[in-house]
Amino acid sequence: MKIRKAVIPAAGLGTRMLPATKTIPKEMLPLLDKPVIQYIIEEAAAAGIEDILLVTNRSKSAMDDYFDYFPELEQRLERSGKADQAEEIRRAADLANIFYVRQKETKGLGHAIYRAKRFIGNEPFAVLLGDDVMFSDTPVIKQLMDVSEERGGATALGVQAVSDAALASYSSLKVAETDKSGVFKVEDLIEKPTAKQKFSNYAILGRYVLTGGIFNALENIQPGYGGEIQLTDGIRSQLASEAMYAVDFEGKRYDTGNQRGFLEATVEFALRDSELGAGFREYLQGILKA
Ligand code: UTP
Repeated sequence: MKIRKAVIPAAGLGTRMLPATKTIPKEMLPLLDKPVIQYIIEEAAAAGIEDILLVTNRSKSAMDDYFDYFPELEQRLERSGKADQAEEIRRAADLANIFYVRQKETKGLGHAIYRAKRFIGNEPFAVLLGDDVMFSDTPVIKQLMDVSEERGGATALGVQAVSDAALASYSSLKVAETDKSGVFKVEDLIEKPTAKQKFSNYAILGRYVLTGGIFNALENIQPGYGGEIQLTDGIRSQLASEAMYAVDFEGKRYDTGNQRGFLEATVEFALRDSELGAGFREYLQGILKA
């Protein structure tokens, strides 16, 4: 079953990036010259997704503005010989058909995903968290979509092994090998486990393919960790009726929703940049020697 739609939950309060995120959505913070959210939409578009639902809230309208045309600015740039810049600005607005829905109360990731019920209907769909940026050869969401599509549109969760210390901030999965290396059958999962509760060091890192069944599951679960409707709990309740898979994806993931992750992404993207990279590397080497 072909996956055509994606949902990007971006309605979190971004408290780890305060005070900046009091008025600037964390998804709009720039990684070099583009906002974080653009990298995520580019990943979905590169995977062949055409329709994207952004779940936002009342303080995130800068995102709708960003993915709109801005004719006065484009004309000004063109008139002053900056046609490349004008094209780049327009390109962002043409990456995909972007739709918006608001999560009126911040009640957790599962609650945010539930806002997509009408947009999705009953088909498998991609989920990309709005603050997790990936660097990979093949778009990470495409790696999951391929596994899901090979397996009849099943749930596919993007995982990597994380340290014991990090696991407490993520989820932990109980997995069994399949005939394909890097693809596992999911047997159980738990959100934010204690050391005693962990199943393995595999954690879900910001990318999912979910089935339409998730909406029914989310309707029937109680608030979990932190009193929020947890997506992990919804997925767990589908295990009884649906086979699901974990994909140990190729690529590096950056959590730009916290200061350390944002800095790592900024430095590494700068080092890889064709114009900035060489000079920035020299600069870093210089200050590290001093
Ligand atoms: P995070 O926990 O990383 O984001 O949620 P947050 O809640 O903004 O972070 P802090 O802890 O306050 O800094 C994971 C993803 O779920 C979305 C976030 O926008 C992020 O993409 N989310 C979270 C929602 O859309 N709604 C929610 O109610 C909670």
